[in-house]
Amino acid sequence: MLLPILKYGAAELKKVSSPVDFFNGELERIVRNMTETMYAAPGIGLAAAQVGINLRLSTVDLSVGEDEKQFMVICNPEIISAEGTQKGEEGCLSVPDFTETVVRPQKLIVRAQDIRGDEMRIEAEGLLARCLCHEIDHMNGVLFFEHLSALKRNLIRNRIRKLARAGEW
Ligand code: NI
Repeated sequence: MLLPILKYGAAELKKVSSPVDFFNGELERIVRNMTETMYAAPGIGLAAAQVGINLRLSTVDLSVGEDEKQFMVICNPEIISAEGTQKGEEGCLSVPDFTETVVRPQKLIVRAQDIRGDEMRIEAEGLLARCLCHEIDHMNGVLFFEHLSALKRNLIRNRIRKLARAGEW
């Protein structure tokens, strides 16, 4: 089932999400719907908060459905170590049509749980490292453009406000 993706301005996107503490058919159902929604968008990552579900949960697939080995369900992730920096364009399904250059770590080690609750350790680099940081931010109520300067943040907020006034957001 496709879920509506919340856009910047929705209160749910600003909340800190709660840990996933059930690994059962209910979680499988949520993940199935999130995966379908992520692929339909299309996007490389979707956090539960973006569909109004207050859980530290994301689906990630850099191949957007082309390579099943790249599909991941990430529950309760924690960054154990980060190394280096990378600069790159970043966007978000909750902030459609906006991309900005965001600085992120080049390499990460993340500890998380999979859909069964088993612990996993992800060694990520490049785009995957960027994507995981972006997803963990969502779980903490942070959107990508909040990493920019106050000036750039305000420019984006004003453009979105204008779109909202015109009924286009
Ligand atoms: Ni996002």
